[in-house]
Amino acid sequence: MSEDAIAAKSWPLAARAPGKCILFGEHAIVYGKPELVLAIDLYAQMGIREASSLSLNGDRRPLEHNPYLRAGVDHFGAAAIPLELRVTSRIPRAAGLGSSAAFCANLATAFSAAAGGCSRAELHQRSFLIERSAQGVGSPGDTAAAVAGGYLALNDSAGAPLWEITDGDRQWDVHRIGDPGWIWVVAYSGVPRNTADAVRRVAERLAAPDGPRLLDELEEVAHEGISAVEHEDRARVGALLTRNQGILRQLGVSHPRLEALIDALGPATEGVKLTGAGAGGSVVGLPKVGREQECVRSVAHAGGLAFIVRPAREGAQLIGAPS
Ligand code: PMV
Repeated sequence: MSEDAIAAKSWPLAARAPGKCILFGEHAIVYGKPELVLAIDLYAQMGIREASSLSLNGDRRPLEHNPYLRAGVDHFGAAAIPLELRVTSRIPRAAGLGSSAAFCANLATAFSAAAGGCSRAELHQRSFLIERSAQGVGSPGDTAAAVAGGYLALNDSAGAPLWEITDGDRQWDVHRIGDPGWIWVVAYSGVPRNTADAVRRVAERLAAPDGPRLLDELEEVAHEGISAVEHEDRARVGALLTRNQGILRQLGVSHPRLEALIDALGPATEGVKLTGAGAGGSVVGLPKVGREQECVRSVAHAGGLAFIVRPAREGAQLIGAPS
């Protein structure tokens, strides 16, 4: 697991960071409630070297097209530095699987190394502020996973304290949770979605009379889910995933394509739910032992793309220079 500092290094640089899936507590985390997030072994890689002008995968006006890059270069005061960035990724974009957090973590890792290095806590704070500034909303769960790897609980007393993250007067505690050694399935619906739109939609829904009750239920499920993972109780985790999905449905962030994937995965999993902002994107399920390939086939029949994933042990890392 990654708790080491980022060393000082000069250009050219390359970094690699994992994607993530949220197991419990998406949306509720925005309101200071608990969340359990898992860094998954789908990675994005970024190579950066000095060049005659700024470009991203050949795009010579990337700041106009990529708000995350804009936020990153603004954060590091680096807009004037001509750099060539190359990104390759196994994480589907706009799928709720952490591609933007991995992008921000890679950018922060490379720029922090070029600026003299930093602690891992500082790397996380930087990655989060870049993502938040680009999205305008959100919590640090995704960037915590991209930077730290493994299972992480936010705003819950379980596990070992790792970091406290602040944004103005808001604060989140990040704790490391032990790995129960399980294999997970995530499946992308092919329907892209926008985190900020979904967060705004949920804010409107929570303003309804039953909003506080829904938020309380999300909180309870997340606390129980974190405890169930800690106790390696697969059946309980499965039941809680299903219960969490029921609440997300009431919040209005499910989608017919997600429901089709959930139905397809039902028989071969202990439980399954949407993961991330919803309204499209992906689902996550805990396959029954030995039935992972059945999950892949069922998802394909339902028109989705499944990945069998394990925890990413490493968070964002420098991985040597691009040639
Ligand atoms: O961007 P996504 O799909 O991983 O959604 C993140 C989870 C939310 O709780 C909806 C937003 C946030 O920043 O916590």
